[in-house]
Amino acid sequence: MGIRIEKTEAENFHKLDQIINRYKAQEGMLIRILQKSQEVFGYLPPKVQAYISQEVGIPISTVNGVVSFYSLFSQEPRGKYTIRVCMGTACYVKGAQEILDAVKEEIQIGVGETSMDKLFTLNASRCIGACGLAPVMTINDDVYERLSPADIPSILYDYIKTHKKAKVTH
Ligand code: FES
Repeated sequence: MGIRIEKTEAENFHKLDQIINRYKAQEGMLIRILQKSQEVFGYLPPKVQAYISQEVGIPISTVNGVVSFYSLFSQEPRGKYTIRVCMGTACYVKGAQEILDAVKEEIQIGVGETSMDKLFTLNASRCIGACGLAPVMTINDDVYERLSPADIPSILYDYIKTHKKAKVTH
């Protein structure tokens, strides 16, 4: 069965074809193709996974297994900023749950969800290898360490402010 592609998506699927052609023959190509596809689409919806499966000849269950396994991949649209609260052992012992609760409270979304304004996506992550700085949270590429719940509102407010400024100047 063919996959139905809306006209507005055609350009992205054209880019996807180029990605597939470029990496198809390389070793470890599936992860590479998924990474590049996520850059194009912003996430990996079922339609994109099905298309990749069809084009590279890998079963959809395998493609979906890889997408589900790596926290780097998302099957839902993501916000502009992805917040990851580390829930590894060291962070957990130092109060990661309270940090996560403070973030939830502040932006009113649960783990795996994206805020209505598409600004934030919240994830709980495994150890990110900075245990000495626990508890740790990342927002895109920024790392916040030795956090307390009281730090959360001002950290998030900075992103909201930056986003508003960007909107005004563009
Ligand atoms: S447990 Fe959080 S960085 Fe290792």
